[in-house]
Amino acid sequence: MDRKEALDSVKANIENENLLKHMLATEAIMIALAKRLGEDQEEWGLTGLLHDIDMELTEGDMNSHSKLGADLVKEMGASEVMVHAILSHNETHGVPLETKLDKALFCADPLTGLIIAAALVRPDKKLAGVEARSVRKRFKEKSFAAGANREQISSCRELGLELDEFIELGLKAMQGIANELGL
Ligand SMILES: [Fe+2]
Repeated sequence: MDRKEALDSVKANIENENLLKHMLATEAIMIALAKRLGEDQEEWGLTGLLHDIDMELTEGDMNSHSKLGADLVKEMGASEVMVHAILSHNETHGVPLETKLDKALFCADPLTGLIIAAALVRPDKKLAGVEARSVRKRFKEKSFAAGANREQISSCRELGLELDEFIELGLKAMQGIANELGL
């Protein structure tokens, strides 16, 4: 499976622009994490790009979300390790996070929402001017982007990254695709 194939499948299954942007942002963070940790950037990027491919098909049913996704990406030829990461990123199933890829997807997923929210509260609504320390400040405000699970973001420590470094890495990665994100 190549990136174009993966993106085409995502677009065929996802109509919501914001959800598509979330998956592109997750891809960017996953590539940056792979680079930082010396892992496979292609595999990690594809995992981020594809991870919520079933979100509209499952219509918010968390009991099937990511199970269907895992089946879909398996059919597309994804590796076992990718399939496991996609399955385990939804805690509902109680599938333990085992590999580094599992752990990376799990912490990258909610970070995108926190960073997007930090851009949207700016007068220019642009990512370019967002600073890591302002994201860090927002992180501590529990009511800000409350859906972005702080504990889950903090699990970057399982990969040997401190929160500050992870936020900075995620922010830079998303700023690098700001045009695609329309932010
Ligand atoms: Fe997600």
